[in-house]
Amino acid sequence: MNTINDGLKSVLGWVDARFPLTSNWKSHVSEYYAPKNFNFWYFFGSLAMLVLVIQIVTGILLVMHFKPDATLNASGVPIAFASVEYIMRDVPWGWLVRYMHSTGASAFFVVIYLHMFRGFLYGSYRKPRELVWIFGMLIFLCLMAEAFFGYLLPWGQMSYWGAQVIVNLFSAIPVIGPDLSLWIRGDYVVGDATLNRFFAFHVIAVPLVLLGLVSAHLLALHEVGSNNPDGIEIKKKKDANGIPLDGIAFHPYYTVKDIVGCVVFLAVFSIVLFFMPEGGGYFLEYNNFFPADPLQTPPHIAPVWYFTPYYSILRAVTYPLFGIDAKFWGVAAMGASTMILLLLPWLDRSPVKSIRYRGPITKWMLSLFIIGFFILGFLGTKPPSYEFFGMIPGAPIAQVFSLYYFLFFLTMPVWSSLDRCKPEPDRVTSK
Ligand code: HEM
Repeated sequence: MNTINDGLKSVLGWVDARFPLTSNWKSHVSEYYAPKNFNFWYFFGSLAMLVLVIQIVTGILLVMHFKPDATLNASGVPIAFASVEYIMRDVPWGWLVRYMHSTGASAFFVVIYLHMFRGFLYGSYRKPRELVWIFGMLIFLCLMAEAFFGYLLPWGQMSYWGAQVIVNLFSAIPVIGPDLSLWIRGDYVVGDATLNRFFAFHVIAVPLVLLGLVSAHLLALHEVGSNNPDGIEIKKKKDANGIPLDGIAFHPYYTVKDIVGCVVFLAVFSIVLFFMPEGGGYFLEYNNFFPADPLQTPPHIAPVWYFTPYYSILRAVTYPLFGIDAKFWGVAAMGASTMILLLLPWLDRSPVKSIRYRGPITKWMLSLFIIGFFILGFLGTKPPSYEFFGMIPGAPIAQVFSLYYFLFFLTMPVWSSLDRCKPEPDRVTSK
């Protein structure tokens, strides 16, 4: 036994003399002191990493059989669509790998939205974590691009028409718009050229950027240290050895805790995967089981659920302004609705970070924001003519909540500084 240990030690010594393995393990894992009061909301960072790995591994397996080709095979079915059907029916375990990837996309957004919501709850985007948030937002934008490119690949009706609608939106930009959308498509309509370039972006370009951004996100976080549910800085109170009094080593305490989170997540994910992989049409739409047909537009085109709040905001703008088409302002509002999140660290002026010590104004504003976000998301899955209970028209409701979405952020400097906050504790609490 001793000889094996001595052998391993000398190999490690050899590596350490040439590569900072032990020092990095210490600074990022075994001697990274995280606040001892992490709660439920702190599971979602490690879960996001787990889902990222699932997506990459299942993605690699899918690429082994998928063919990005829009030409028709001998049976008149597009080759890309037929290759997905082949994966589902003939490749051993192909159905599982494909569903893990398609359901995994929705799981990714569930996890990311909860991860971002934690930031709202505890003010995790505030100084000194502005860059952690900005890298996170860039990850979010990449994820949206990744999901959009991926959805075109099976070359079903929704893939085709969804891409057609979204790429056409760019043509609303004055002067350069029409040329820009032509340049993105690589053709006058969504076609084989579009499928090939979306494939290139989906399998290599965006994932590479994503991995780089995730590394930057974690490096930035470890530079400043994690926030916590009390929103106070544990680095302010250290013991004689320079270790935060309220900090515990990430390994083994949080590695073990995160493994429990991963197991629970995998159990829930498996239930969805095995019993409702299409999520009732929300994860994989009904129309996408039909091959793309450029001559037949589906009666109702809606994006996948994770895009629908922004889609609602796009549709909510119905008036032209300064002589420019409403479509352009809709696109601008949709773009602004995600970009505005980048400014969050500077819009929030509250003297405290965590919701625990904030006053009633923040609690009301945030609750209404979340309710509005869900309503916008729901309405985005429905046609504009949708009426709640056949009576209350959805379109003006979407307009009211779109307006509130922006007001929430734009008036934040005022209401966040006016709120009646409670004093923060000196040390973290263990509630
Ligand atoms: C692939 C996507 C992502 C991965 C793998 C990831 C991973 C992580 C991990 C492992 C942590 C530390 C553990 C934790 O606090 O939960 C973390 C913290 C954080 N993440 Fe992410 N993240 C991702 C996306 C995002 C996005 C989209 C945002 C926001 C726009 C974001 C904002 C933050 C913030 C503010 C923290 C610090 C939280 C705190 O200390 O309270 N992350 N992330």
